[in-house]
Amino acid sequence: MYSFKNDYSEGVHPNILEALSRSNMIQMEGYGEDGLSNEAKTLIKKELKDNSVDIHFFSGGTQTNLTAIGSFLRPHEAVISAETGHILVHETGAIEATGHKVIGVDKKLGKLSSEDIEAVVKLHGDEHMVKPKLVYLSNPTELGTIYSDEELKSIRDVCDRSGLILYMDGARMGSALMSSENDLTLESINRYCDAFYIGGTKNGALLGEVLIIKKENLKTDFRYLMKQRGALLAKGRLIGIQFKELFTDNLFYNLASHANRMADLLREGIKDSGHEFDLETSTNQLFPIMPIQIIEVLEKKFSFYRWQSIDADRSVIRLVTSWATNEEAVKEFIELLKSN
Ligand SMILES: Cc1ncc(COP(=O)(O)O)c(C=O)c1O
Repeated sequence: MYSFKNDYSEGVHPNILEALSRSNMIQMEGYGEDGLSNEAKTLIKKELKDNSVDIHFFSGGTQTNLTAIGSFLRPHEAVISAETGHILVHETGAIEATGHKVIGVDKKLGKLSSEDIEAVVKLHGDEHMVKPKLVYLSNPTELGTIYSDEELKSIRDVCDRSGLILYMDGARMGSALMSSENDLTLESINRYCDAFYIGGTKNGALLGEVLIIKKENLKTDFRYLMKQRGALLAKGRLIGIQFKELFTDNLFYNLASHANRMADLLREGIKDSGHEFDLETSTNQLFPIMPIQIIEVLEKKFSFYRWQSIDADRSVIRLVTSWATNEEAVKEFIELLKSN
């Protein structure tokens, strides 16, 4: 059974494993203050062309989101998110557990617009309601769609006008950046956002995410806030070493390119077989609509999620490719589809 369920089914890219192994017996400072973590930070700052940012390593996405968002807000302040936002649907109320309401906006493509944000701000006019203070975007979204430079710029503008913090969840940032439709870079994302994270877990790392904080007042005491939430790892080196490797010789981009290329092959094959998509994506998540009869045949050889039922005969399925997806498996999937 070959899995297209997610992009964390495999372990870790060999270069990273090798780097972990090479450094294994070297004694280092704890809590991410070792030399290799510092080298990773330098490489990331170079990528952003910004030496002023603060950089922190985390073990996972939920932990990053809840530590960042929970720390950036005062008690009465709230988050604006698309209804499909990971923090709203799939993080077990972690943000709410930090005391902050997440205001959901219903969006078919999983993307917020500047108009949506303005409307939420307008609706929350006085102290009898929570005060919207932070905009949560994921790029790519949970539906595999991405933001353009123009869209992000207009969201930045509304954040400036309304005094909102702009935060981006980049669990699959590599896939967004390597999409054929993308016109953003880490440099421009850093220019628009007050804080954002770049995901390693879903792009070849064993585990780990890196949070970048640009806005000065959000940086204050952040390591204390991490520690209080159990996010400051004694063996922080484990994440630093991995990001150093990811940002050496373009590994981060090359791995995401592979995932996207495998998704492109699947997309073309599915279209050639006459099937439609619930929504168009250019990243490593695909949402084709398939007859149940064909889904049952595919499920004998491949695992994937049945995402959403359309009617008694059809369902949307979710296919995800990864940095390690095997091209032969993609071809087999398409052949099986074409023969049915
Ligand atoms: C957009 C997004 N953010 C955050 C996460 C959470 O990551 P974790 O499972 O590491 O907490 C995920 C996981 O799928 C995700 O897709």
